[in-house]
Amino acid sequence: MDLGSGSGVECFLAAAEVGASGQVFGIDMTDAMLELARSSQKHVVTDLGYDNIEFRKGYLEAIPLADETADVVISNCVINLSPDKRRTYLEIMRILKPGGRLVVADVVSDTPISAAIKNSTKYRGECLGGAMQQDDLVAMLEDCGFSSIYLHKRFSYREVDGHFFYSLTYEAGKAERAEGEEERVRCLFRGPAPALETPSGVRLERGHITALSRREAEQLSEQVFLLDEEGAVANIEQEACCCAVPQMRPGRIMPSSQEALPLSVMSVVASSAVKSWSIKAIAAQRRAAFSAVARPLLLVSAGLVIMSAIVVTSRKALRLSARSA
Ligand SMILES: C[S@@+](CC[C@H](N)C(=O)[O-])C[C@H]1O[C@@H](n2cnc3c(N)ncnc32)[C@H](O)[C@@H]1O
Repeated sequence: MDLGSGSGVECFLAAAEVGASGQVFGIDMTDAMLELARSSQKHVVTDLGYDNIEFRKGYLEAIPLADETADVVISNCVINLSPDKRRTYLEIMRILKPGGRLVVADVVSDTPISAAIKNSTKYRGECLGGAMQQDDLVAMLEDCGFSSIYLHKRFSYREVDGHFFYSLTYEAGKAERAEGEEERVRCLFRGPAPALETPSGVRLERGHITALSRREAEQLSEQVFLLDEEGAVANIEQEACCCAVPQMRPGRIMPSSQEALPLSVMSVVASSAVKSWSIKAIAAQRRAAFSAVARPLLLVSAGLVIMSAIVVTSRKALRLSARSA
């Protein structure tokens, strides 16, 4: 699978490499590039004597290929152009077979890139504005579950306003799943110790995200946050914070805007805390809020009405007895 196949050159080289029994896919978001690649394909397959290439329209961030189908993903000078690189790497992880690998050539920098370069249409188009810092790239690959990360080549590429850019070729693997091995999950060690070594020897550093087998991660219980794909904590129910009521997202048990408690009631129930965002819990919280606010108010109002009635009645009785006296 070639991501951002452009004119198709890498796909043609790969087609010869994998042979007639192999299959090569190229994806690109641009119609003109797909058209160019498909027109060259006709000549290439005639020369090869077989056709094992398919160009598909699609995005790096939503790759049109089924889960665990690719042995190798390649990409030349494209990932820097992705507006959501984490999503891209997670997509690559999804389509790779266990034991598969990613081999990429792309532009990186060593130092943070200035906002002027990042936001320049010219430099983004020249593959510089969206280039990642090399250590962030490695951290992101690890964070997305890649292992055996290896830097093949690095050479100077460009210098802009004192920023140095390099062309880096790197490889990263998707771990082989052993027979019966559990899936891996991303976990974030919460501290307070600066680091923790798991029984299998994985070092977890406070505040860093590390991939761990689900069994081992669950053994660590609340020492770690288990993260879902969006980085949200999935293993611990958390109290709502005062910043905002979380939005409903697919697959989440959170209140919709209609189900969310009004802010005034929220503040009343804040001390008893919103423990869970399940709809049942919201109904229970509403009942609690009613007990906390409305019931005492009703009792006080009823008391006031009775007191006023007593006062009026006793005044009348006093007036009557005064008149008869
Ligand atoms: C710099 S060219 C590289 C083409 C080819 N890999 C090569 O080396 O000749 C970038 C290509 O990636 C495609 N591209 C850029 N961002 C993309 C994205 N997010 N999803 C899919 N294709 C993308 C562009 O349409 C373009 O064809």
